Amino acid sequence: MPIISPSLLAADFGNLQRELEMINESEADWLHLDIMDGVFVPNITFGLPLLNMIRKHLKKPMDVHLMIVQPEKFIEGSKEIGIEMMTVHYETCTHIHRTLQDIHNAGMKAGVALNPGTPVCLLRDIIEDVDVVMIMSVNPGAGGQKFIMHSLDKVRELKKLIQETGSHALIEIDGGVNDKTAPMLLEAGADVLVAGSYVFGAEDPKKVIRELKAL
Ligand code: DX5
Ligand code: ZN
Repeated sequence: MPIISPSLLAADFGNLQRELEMINESEADWLHLDIMDGVFVPNITFGLPLLNMIRKHLKKPMDVHLMIVQPEKFIEGSKEIGIEMMTVHYETCTHIHRTLQDIHNAGMKAGVALNPGTPVCLLRDIIEDVDVVMIMSVNPGAGGQKFIMHSLDKVRELKKLIQETGSHALIEIDGGVNDKTAPMLLEAGADVLVAGSYVFGAEDPKKVIRELKAL
């Protein structure tokens, strides 16, 4: 059974409390929260103050995806809020091993995300130190983009690396997940599915979450 992490990016922010209640009542396992800085990616979303408010209403673990430069600056603040999982982009970390270690030392799960153009083989030396590897199946920065098919090969390659090394890392997919791409991703070895527009754009988001969960 896959872990489902709906992405709040596609939610109605004018009705945030209602959206969070929907997530609380749904079968979603985590809530995916996209932080963008207008530097690493073209868009800006929200930061720690909003995450802090969300924490107070949300009953599910927070799966925070940092699409920002210098993500290490926010480890301490994220810990104070009570965030469970911090995923940083490989491309933004000069000292990726140190950053992952610092996230762990702060008591959070540590994830590393790879852009579509970043190869899986770069993870070989850190794969045993990560809890989650996030394969970006679109270029980060916006919801509602077309799924990049090559991501399936990356999932298979990553699965092989995880099995070879005995790593416990989960494979999370972010971007373009829907009823067509989800079955292919699960067959390739994905463990966690992030879905933004497919969930929040649906007439009945709870039903969509339930259907993804049942795949
Ligand atoms: C994109 C974000 C995603 C986004 C996915 O940069 O990281 O989490 O919300 O949106 P969909 O599911 O619509 O592709
Ligand atoms: Zn994301």
